[in-house]
Amino acid sequence: MASRLASDDVDIPADIAATLVNPAAYADHRIHDSYRWLRANNPLGTARTEKFDPFWVVTKHAHIQAISRQNELFHNADLSTILTARAGIERIREITGGPNLVRSLVQMDAPDHPKYRALTQGWFMPANLGKFEARVRDIARHTVARMIEKGGQCDFVADVALGYPLHVIMEILGVPEQDEPRMLKLTQELFGAQDPDTARIREALSPEQFSVMMQAVVNDFGAYFRAITEDRRRSPRDDLATVIANARIGGEYMPDHDATSYYMIVATAGHDTTSSSTAGAIWALAEDPEQFARVRADPELIPGLVDEAIRWMTPVKHFMRSATADTELGGRKIAKGDWLMLCYASGNRDEDVFEEPFKFRCDRKPNRHIAFGYGAHLCLGQYLAKLEMRILFEELLPRLKSIALDGEVKMTQATFVNGPKKLPIRFELN
Ligand code: HEM
Repeated sequence: MASRLASDDVDIPADIAATLVNPAAYADHRIHDSYRWLRANNPLGTARTEKFDPFWVVTKHAHIQAISRQNELFHNADLSTILTARAGIERIREITGGPNLVRSLVQMDAPDHPKYRALTQGWFMPANLGKFEARVRDIARHTVARMIEKGGQCDFVADVALGYPLHVIMEILGVPEQDEPRMLKLTQELFGAQDPDTARIREALSPEQFSVMMQAVVNDFGAYFRAITEDRRRSPRDDLATVIANARIGGEYMPDHDATSYYMIVATAGHDTTSSSTAGAIWALAEDPEQFARVRADPELIPGLVDEAIRWMTPVKHFMRSATADTELGGRKIAKGDWLMLCYASGNRDEDVFEEPFKFRCDRKPNRHIAFGYGAHLCLGQYLAKLEMRILFEELLPRLKSIALDGEVKMTQATFVNGPKKLPIRFELN
């Protein structure tokens, strides 16, 4: 980041900057305390920390949208798309020659991005997803049946929220059921890798060790999906893997690394995010019997419950962008090459956009949350995520008479994607 930014009123306080880069701060209220302070006092300031290159911290809904919609001025691929320590980025550069380990849709800009996105966009549109509704409902019914077998008590994350979206996306992708545990483990290592419970190495990792671990995870994914690609080229089926394996860019199959990255984003973006949002809804309802009774009595509130859970949880905490030219926003001079953190979870608590933003309200209307991002990279899987959550709640809520917390809720420690990792509940059946 250009040194001309080093003025006191632009820099955010060191203790607030420290929370933004600290995975543990995302597992409790501290990150929201920081966001709230920033929105009120320095909504577009710079964070300077020891181990990370400086970055702008974008906390207002309007600024996040403004940056996300100007896809030529703010690029995804030029710098790391997720917050990564300087040493980690250097290591990644040694491995790949660029700032990112993979080259999936989020690490692309025009002209490649629209071409690669177009390959599967139709698949993710409601018109096509309708075909899968019956299969998704089947998976939801099995999931609910397994929860009910637990006899009135369960950990909603382990017993319901984790497995369900994984089954759905694997079904759509065409990954056989026996391989799902492997996919789940790899995803958790990729996204929750900062959390001591899911990291391959349990003790605190140095940034260098962290990058090596990430590379191993990417290699595992690559090996797995190379075999799937070969299979689908030999014998195409009606699944998303067949679309990816046979897609052509300029008449050629996608390069191996791009195809692996494509599978990875579809396989990974679709479940930790959806499971966190699903768990968020149950967490909120368990704490609010009156709202639980209302949604149960009126299934028409379920789509609102789904959207509010996604806003309230905002599992993707940030993506990074970088400026391709000098520009101005919110009275700040942003220089070419500057790195910016879009804090979606802050935008979704923005007092200028949401009434009582900290309150969970399943009848919130309108609910203009930005948990799926905005602009050219707007989440490709948003309709799928909403469809699977709606169907699960349609199957689950009518079976329940009551629901309550049964112990402490624990969140994953991660600065990128996080949500509940333990949600003990008690429930009574109708
Ligand atoms: C509640 C669940 C989900 C949340 C909160 C979420 C959130 C996000 C966010 C914030 C982005 C970046 C948007 C931007 O930069 O403007 C994104 C991109 C993406 N998501 Fe999701 N996502 C969810 C579910 C899914 C599902 C189910 C899938 C599909 C299997 C999926 C696939 C993708 C893909 C492929 C992209 C990259 C799009 C691009 O760069 O063009 N997501 N998602």
